[in-house]
Amino acid sequence: PKRVRTRHFQNAKANGIKITGLTSYDMLSARIFDEAGIDFLLVGDSAGNNVFGYDTTLPVTVDDLIPLTRAVAHAVTRAFVVADMPFGSYETDVQDALHTAVRFMKETGAHAVKLEGGRRSAKQIRRIVDAGIPVMAHIGYTPQSEHQLGGHIIQGRGDRGIDDLLADAHAIEEAGAFAVVLEMVPADAAARVTEELTIPTIGVGAGPHVDGQLLVWTDWAGFTTGRVPRFVRQYADLKGVLGEAAQRYKADVEGGEYPGPEHSY
Ligand code: KIV
Ligand code: NA
Repeated sequence: PKRVRTRHFQNAKANGIKITGLTSYDMLSARIFDEAGIDFLLVGDSAGNNVFGYDTTLPVTVDDLIPLTRAVAHAVTRAFVVADMPFGSYETDVQDALHTAVRFMKETGAHAVKLEGGRRSAKQIRRIVDAGIPVMAHIGYTPQSEHQLGGHIIQGRGDRGIDDLLADAHAIEEAGAFAVVLEMVPADAAARVTEELTIPTIGVGAGPHVDGQLLVWTDWAGFTTGRVPRFVRQYADLKGVLGEAAQRYKADVEGGEYPGPEHSY
């Protein structure tokens, strides 16, 4: 299959074809999602919660994400792979942002990077794009600033909220981002942003009036042990399937049912 490139995102928006994305943190899930035709895979710093077992994404480092991103990038043949820039790796300075983006591109095989923030991150986005690296922006609820935002709270509410969201959206488009993630914003606010921007909007809990959807795969597949946000539709029950398999395995081994003659040399 032909590789997805940034132009695919642009064409999809122009033609009203929805873009599909999932997170992935490893080769096995990446291969499955790639073969299913998911357009892009985000190696999110949500790995902090879903791989490393932290309560937030804040402790995640570039060194944590590089091997995961490399595994995902090597696994796919079609999907566009986006490397998520973790907290502390780009806010400090445009030079730091460029350095981090270059590391991901050189060391992992990812096709783009993502970073959080609208107006506050516009300079960083511009510098990275100028170096030839596509940037996916991320506005609305931005988990790396959860302590400033006061928790897991919907953004872009009310006139003031919509104005802020639109100002951020225009700033990142102006800075050269090829797409933008809108996380946890009201559907009407997301619709306004989608209408006003020429680049595609990718919703995560942003309703249906956006150009594509992205979900954290462990939430989407019922694999997580944590709380799953209301906006997620669960497409599988992996926790149930694996829990039941582990119980049957234990019972079989303890009861002498496994291994049988057909499993023995
Ligand atoms: O890290 C992540 O999974 C993300 C998405 C939820 C947008 O940034
Ligand atoms: Na993230």
